[in-house]
Amino acid sequence: MPELNPDVLATPGSGIRDIMNRAFAMPDAIRLEVGEPSFPTPEHIRRAALEALEAGRTRYTPTAGLPALREAARDKVRRINGVERPVEGVMMTPGAGGGLYLALRTLTRPGEGVLLPDPGWANYASAVAALGLRAIPYPLRPPAFVPDPGELARRADAATRVLLVNFPSNPTGAVPEADWVEAVAKLAAERDLWIVSDEVYDQLVFEGAATSPARFAPDRTVAVYSFSKTYAMTGWRLGYVAASPAVTPWLVRLAEQVWQSVAEPTQWAGLAALTGDQAAVDAMRDAYRRRRDLALATAREAGLTTYRPRGAFYLMVDVSASGLDDRAFALDLLENERVAVVPGTAFGAEGRGLVRLSLAASEAEIAEGIRRIARRVRSRAAELRGA
Ligand SMILES: Cc1ncc(COP(=O)(O)O)c(C=O)c1O
Repeated sequence: MPELNPDVLATPGSGIRDIMNRAFAMPDAIRLEVGEPSFPTPEHIRRAALEALEAGRTRYTPTAGLPALREAARDKVRRINGVERPVEGVMMTPGAGGGLYLALRTLTRPGEGVLLPDPGWANYASAVAALGLRAIPYPLRPPAFVPDPGELARRADAATRVLLVNFPSNPTGAVPEADWVEAVAKLAAERDLWIVSDEVYDQLVFEGAATSPARFAPDRTVAVYSFSKTYAMTGWRLGYVAASPAVTPWLVRLAEQVWQSVAEPTQWAGLAALTGDQAAVDAMRDAYRRRRDLALATAREAGLTTYRPRGAFYLMVDVSASGLDDRAFALDLLENERVAVVPGTAFGAEGRGLVRLSLAASEAEIAEGIRRIARRVRSRAAELRGA
């Protein structure tokens, strides 16, 4: 057999799947590892897709997406993200993951460096590996999980082409202040870097608002958005990219080779999502905020160290007192307490000693899960002292 591409063979799989697959085999487990909304897609969005199907809107669309949907996405980027883009800068993608991949492919050549958050969404490192790029992790350290711009500058070498940022962050929930975003945009200009900004949690912010780097560096920022989190539409596969009109048409050119166009009924559902009643978006965000507050209070009472997330729907919990590394702790916890969480190192080396909990579970499950985590940390710590 001829050889396979070694870059693809070097692409790591997801550390989340590992825990998930084990949890599937335990029907009584409390599932706090899953990173997807616990809500159904709002009814008016589902109805729009059904109507599209009934009306026979089941065909190829322009690769960049239905014109009305691109316009609605442009309007949303203006309204929510405060960035003015011509419609030629906006394209629809089958989820944010597709947009990220096209962006990295278009902005880089093999061998070039990409600055990646650590801990960060694991797919960044996988995409970088698959494309033959060089990952340059930059640390997000507790309690704020926002990197120092000076440290970013030190890590960027002459062959670094892209700074990837993700705020609100998965897995930390961090949301930096606007002056930090401005400083990073300035740094990108000084070092002639592209900024790939993953903003899929832009509407899941509990205090204040997230600031897009495109506000300060519109020409060099490629921002990636999704319907998955905001509208509880993970399975519909719909996202979009907003960038300079000098960049987006090249992403569209690549998309022609890969998916040609996003499923048409999904795009009509997306149009209903962006132009319809936004009450469900507010209600889901408020529910995540309540769960976050409950989780923080429960963890405090139980004596666990946590870091207050300002956005997204995750919580990082320090389990280092257990004496186990985070992966061993997650496996031990699942086995003995029937609670599934993701080890911090599934998101990069800087995640050591931490586990990620998802707030996409019921309040009762979150509170009980945290109590069991605390119990397990205590009993392992006691064993450690006794040893
Ligand atoms: C930070 C981050 N970016 C992108 C995605 C992918 O989103 P989509 O479903 O739109 O591909 C996720 C999904 O978990 C995510 O957490």
